[in-house]
Amino acid sequence: MKRFKILGTGMAVPERVLTNHDLEQMVDTSDAWITERTGIKQRHIADAETSSATLGARALRSACEQAELETSELDVIVVATSSADTVFPSTGCWIQNELGIRGMPAFDIAAGCTGFLYALEVAACMLAAGSGKRIGVVGCEVMSKVVDWTDRTTCVLFGDGSGAMVIESCEEDTGLLASNWGADGGLAPILYLPAGGTRMPATAQTVAEGMHTVKMTGNAVFRHAVRAMTAAGKAALKDSGLEADDIDLLIPHQANMRIMEACRSRLKIPVEKMFSIVDRYGNMSAATIPVAIHEAREAGRMGPGTTVALAAFGTGLTWGGAVLQT
Ligand code: ACO
Repeated sequence: MKRFKILGTGMAVPERVLTNHDLEQMVDTSDAWITERTGIKQRHIADAETSSATLGARALRSACEQAELETSELDVIVVATSSADTVFPSTGCWIQNELGIRGMPAFDIAAGCTGFLYALEVAACMLAAGSGKRIGVVGCEVMSKVVDWTDRTTCVLFGDGSGAMVIESCEEDTGLLASNWGADGGLAPILYLPAGGTRMPATAQTVAEGMHTVKMTGNAVFRHAVRAMTAAGKAALKDSGLEADDIDLLIPHQANMRIMEACRSRLKIPVEKMFSIVDRYGNMSAATIPVAIHEAREAGRMGPGTTVALAAFGTGLTWGGAVLQT
């Protein structure tokens, strides 16, 4: 077990809401198609000035306020994002800059939508090793700036937002009871953003060809997502020594209601125990799990003594499962 307690959580989403009906005016799609295939009804979209770090800083500040801590009192900032502010420096450093704090290590983890579970695992290991006492773990995304708004197969899926959690090392039996994480880089081509890195530097030609936007083979991602998320969730549950009946709440990565539902039924967790926000926010990638955790806490669904199963998949392909004891 990796011990920690949650001191506070927070979230931030841009003000502007884009509904499925708005999308009907932009691409050849319908509210009925999006709702039936994904469960998404609306998503929040950032304005020109808002970046992943802007939202990440807001979410982390509010998590610190709930924890009754100054942001400067954090020992480490770990950020999960796949829509980084810049290739370098890290979004973690931009978040420090936004918050006007300095000194503590700040860095990013790139594991797509699994990012928050990777970040939580890394933060928990750091606390266990004594590398800090209080860590801010952030998931932040502005996916709207990296999708092709003329491609109906991807632009309807994503939304912008950030969630954050402040955790502190402790002696009690709370924290990660068990976790399971992994990756299969052989599946990188089914979901990636080709241009802008050293593999394909951004040029006028790559921009003209739209290579700086998300490319996805949706049905392959769907198939692998269900398989990988379920396997990671089952492995974490088994290693925790608990049974499905012992889980109070399931928070899966919120990409698509059909994927979440397939994962839930294979984990044999009743439908009323699954917490869902996908209808209101769409797929906020690494931000969906921390935003869902924050909303579950605010709704009184998650508090001291709650046993939570987490499961995610993302570009890579990456996957993660965890049993969190609060
Ligand atoms: N509106 C209307 N029709 C559409 C739309 C749309 N927005 N998008 C696709 N279609 C059409 C297709 O063109 C296709 O038409 P055709 O049969 O005439 O060729 C038809 O709908 C069916 O397309 P499929 O791709 O087979 O539809 P599917 O049932 O697989 O649903 C979806 C597509 C929703 C994308 C699904 O595959 C999915 O959710 N995949 C997982 C995606 C995902 O979660 N990605 C996030 C990864 S996380 C990360 O790390 C960033």
